[in-house]
Formats: sequence, C-alpha cells, structure tokens
Amino acid sequence: MNVLQKEMEAKLKMLWPVEKIKEADCYFYNIPIEKYLSTTTVKVRDKGEMIMFGGYSYLSLHKNKKIERNALRALKEYGSGGHGVRLLAGTTSVHRRLEEKISEFKGTEDAVTYSSGYVANISSISSLVGRHDTIISDRLNHASIVDGCLLSRATFRKFRHNDMKHLETLLKQNNSGRVLVIADGVFSMDGDIFDLPRAAWLCKEHNALLMIDESHSIGVIGKTGRGIEEHFGLPKNSVDIKMGTLSKAIPSQGGYIASSKKVCNFLRHQSRGFIYSGANTPTNDAASATALDIIMDEPERVAKLHENVAYTKAKLKASGFDTLNSDTAILPIICGADWNALELAKHCHDHNIYIQAIPYPVVPKGKARLRLSINTDHTKEQIDYLAEVLKSANISNNESF
Ligand SMILES: Cc1ncc(COP(=O)(O)O)c(C=O)c1O
Repeated sequence: MNVLQKEMEAKLKMLWPVEKIKEADCYFYNIPIEKYLSTTTVKVRDKGEMIMFGGYSYLSLHKNKKIERNALRALKEYGSGGHGVRLLAGTTSVHRRLEEKISEFKGTEDAVTYSSGYVANISSISSLVGRHDTIISDRLNHASIVDGCLLSRATFRKFRHNDMKHLETLLKQNNSGRVLVIADGVFSMDGDIFDLPRAAWLCKEHNALLMIDESHSIGVIGKTGRGIEEHFGLPKNSVDIKMGTLSKAIPSQGGYIASSKKVCNFLRHQSRGFIYSGANTPTNDAASATALDIIMDEPERVAKLHENVAYTKAKLKASGFDTLNSDTAILPIICGADWNALELAKHCHDHNIYIQAIPYPVVPKGKARLRLSINTDHTKEQIDYLAEVLKSANISNNESF
C-alpha cells in the first residue's frame, strides 16, 4: 500500500463497526422501503410488510390526497426541477405562497425557505453571526446547528443540556459582539422540550438573540401544533429566529427560517444556502403549503398525536422501559450498551417492526437506544403489539463499541 492509499485507509476509518454489525445481522440502516402500504405500514425489500415506528411523518400526512393533488398540479404547471436559484429564475408564486403560510402559522412577519433544514441552519447561523460574535448553544443541539456555529467562526460556547443556570452563567460572562443563543425546541434524540420560558427571559435580560430549531416541535407540540411558544402559552414573539424543517410533520422537503421582515430580507440577500443553491421544486413547496393548510384546518390530528404519545409512554413505562424525559413524538427506549440496542432492533425487525437503533457516537456512551417515532395514525393495536414485542426480547449483550 502506498502512502496515499494508507492515508485514505486512515480517513475511511469509521466510528461504527459497520462490518461487525452486518455480520451479526443487526444492520438495518439504509434498507430500501419499496412502498408505503398505508400511513403506518411499509413494504421493505426482501422482507415484506412492516409496521413503521421510525418515520418522522408525525401527523401521518404523507399519503394525503389533497397534498398529492396540489403537488401534482404544481408539477403540471411548472414542470419538474427548480429552474435555478431563488434570486434569479427560481422563485415562483408557489414559493412565495409557502413562505407567507409559514409566517402566518408561526406568527412572524416573514419567512424564507431553503432546500433542507440542514441548509437552513448552516446558512442562517453562519450569516447572522460572524467571527466577532458569540454563540451559546445547548450541548445536545442537532449536528446542523453545530455545523452552522462552526462555519460562522463565532466564539462557540456550549451550556449543559437544558440547564438554565449554566446558560445564565455563560450569558453573564464578557461575551464579544452579538450574542446568539440557540437550541432545539424538541431535542432530536431525547425528545425532551427546551425550557423556553426561562431561556427567553434570560435572552431579554442579556440582550441576546434567541433561535429555536423546531424540526421536531412544529406540528407536534402546542394544542394546534404551532410549536414551542404555543406549548408554553408564550407570546408569538418570544423567539427571534424560528427555524424548522419541511420534511417531518410537514411531509415534503426543505427548511425555513421564520422571523422579522428585516431578518428574512437579510437572509435572502446574504445567506449562501439561499443565494447559491437551486430553488426547492414547486412540487415540494405546493405539498408543504397544503400540509400547513391541513394542520390549521384539522387540529384533531395534533390532538390524536398527543393521545398516542401519552398512551405509548404509559405502556412503555408500565413495561419497565426508560424513555428519559420525553413527552413528545420522539420516545427514546434506552438500552445502555450499543449491542443491546442493536440486538433489540433486530428482535423488532424479526417481528416486522421497523425501528432503528441509535448507538454511540450519535448519543453518549452507555446511552444507546431505540428511537421510536409516534405518529397520528398509529393504532392502539399497533402500539400494544410494539410493547409486547419489546417486552418479549431477551437480550444480554452488554458490549459497547
Ligand atoms: C433538530 C433537527 N434540525 C435540523 C434537521 C435537518 O432537517 P432536514 O432533514 O430538513 O435537513 C434535522 C433532521 O434530522 C433535525 O432533527
């Protein structure tokens, strides 16, 4: 092997022992789903029908006829593709309609969309703050937030997860430039909710901007699914920069920032992910806009989701499972050692339940888990079956990576 090949080998070293996981028949990542048979069941290649407990379509809107009709109409009217970047040839009235709908839903003056939630985070964070500024970020924030913080070159400080005392300590220190506090609304691996009332108050006290990633809270928490401010009964202006994805409860693709006209205008002309990347397809944006209409018209979907979450959580707790502090549609099932989680996932797959194990380094060592996603259309029978299957597992492989 020459030096170059050796360097390449070293670069390709992975933190996950992928081959070992495959040999143990515990590898279920990237398996092709051939079809959604219903909103909660899928046909998996070489496997057959499975109950989906790993999908993000929290409100079960992904096979909705109205969304399909409007997406198809946009496809017919605009053709396929996005036609260029937004500033030049890519903006259509579908894009503007979606941005207006997002701002209506989130109670802001304006909104700007990106090709994904990941791009929304890295582009907005890295353009709102720069190397003379300070970011104070929750330790468990999503990778796209972390990447945006690093890209910004601002001083990057982390507070202990959801620890408002620690946040206050950091805010009181001599921070340079503009200060941006940032957190997930619902944390993507633990499912717990950020302490917005206290954080919003602290940010006002210390003149810091507050940005919340609502990828797992939009459509999910709050009586009508409007997210974290509604959940806590706070005014709609409690968060300065509201970020979200269009690929979870809203079953499409893209990400957004909802904020003041000034911030959105700035992002449209200064954030590189907006300026230098092709527009979302009108087909996707028509789907997103229709999904928002449905969420506003049918609050019973959110109520049913809340009912399902409470039912599942009670069921799992009664069976002795640890679901951390989650009260949301993401329910972690803590397994401890990495191989415990992988083998529990295999047990579920053997019983036709689609769910994924999340080992280290995605979560801290010793906190490997199954990541359960509850949706509106899950039936009590499906949830009971899941609990039974989990309970019947007999796993004692306490090894970690
Ligand atoms: C908290 C959080 N933020 C951002 C993203 C990125 O969103 P998208 O999938 O639209 O890129 C995700 C996606 O997994 C997420 O969980």
